[in-house]
Amino acid sequence: MRIRQNRAEILTNAKICGKYHKLIIKDAKISRNSRPGQFLMLKVGDSQGPLLRRPLSIHRVDKEKIEMLYERIGPGTEILAQRKAGEFLDVIGPLGNGFTLPPESRESEAVLLAGGMGVAPLVFWAQRLVAGKRKSAGDRIQVFIGARTKEQILCEKEFKKLGCDVKIATDDGSAGFFGRVTGLLEAALQTMDCQRIIVYACGPQPMLRELVRICRKKLISSQVSLEEHMACGIGACLGCVVNTIDGYKRVCKEGPVFEAKKLIY
Ligand SMILES: Cc1cc2nc3c(=O)[nH]c(=O)nc-3n(C[C@H](O)[C@H](O)[C@H](O)COP(=O)(O)OP(=O)(O)OC[C@H]3O[C@@H](n4cnc5c(N)ncnc54)[C@H](O)[C@@H]3O)c2cc1C
Ligand code: FES
Repeated sequence: MRIRQNRAEILTNAKICGKYHKLIIKDAKISRNSRPGQFLMLKVGDSQGPLLRRPLSIHRVDKEKIEMLYERIGPGTEILAQRKAGEFLDVIGPLGNGFTLPPESRESEAVLLAGGMGVAPLVFWAQRLVAGKRKSAGDRIQVFIGARTKEQILCEKEFKKLGCDVKIATDDGSAGFFGRVTGLLEAALQTMDCQRIIVYACGPQPMLRELVRICRKKLISSQVSLEEHMACGIGACLGCVVNTIDGYKRVCKEGPVFEAKKLIY
């Protein structure tokens, strides 16, 4: 994998709703080498501001453009939100291992589960599944999106444009299913052939833990993208390890996507 460090030009950095923003930067080499589920480490400030880079998932790529979605939740993302089109951001990437297709022999249905900002890498993955030759994994993509409120539902249109069957859950019941997105998934699984499904998921840790529990109970294959605090992002500091049946693994290097059955969670 070719990792690149570069000062990439910001093409767009705009609020999409509430605390959510879309950032588009230009770097043909990173774009060309990016795979769904991988991420970039961004130096958000120029001279001042947080020392540590911040990891953001690659949301989409288009020729030399790389799109990211982010939520303003702390000092790093607040500084990032102030950066303007035409400025340059120091970026490293693409990093980590992303989502993978099941073996050729396996007929499967893709189910995507996104909580909040977890939609970011899953749009890129849905694009690849739809565009890929492996129609077995891309024929019928079901997407479950969870958000706190109706206003915070992200990327519903993008998934629908790709022909995905989208279902929504909100914590306050303002749209779709009233409750957790894992509750919605669990209800839907009652009428699905669990042996044919592969769940690809990204979202907050409690959602992923619940998904891992459901998949274990029903013997469903699943790949989950983990978010851990990252210092270096390139495998050097061991600050992001998770426990797996194969020992401790670095989320930034061996992950962020792991097979759920391997996690000691
Ligand atoms: C591989 C990876 C991909 C990511 N992709 C995205 C993305 O596409 N969009 C997006 O908005 N965010 C993403 N994140 C999370 C993002 O990196 C953090 O929100 C960001 O670094 C917060 O920086 P901050 O300085 O604004 O806030 P901080 O002050 O650093 O943190 C604010 C709050 O968020 C918590 N937090 C910060 N970083 C993480 C983390 N990595 N995991 C769990 N909790 C955290 C802190 O404990 C604190 O409560 C990703 C993280 C990883 C590891
Ligand atoms: S963040 Fe340093 S090893 Fe993963």
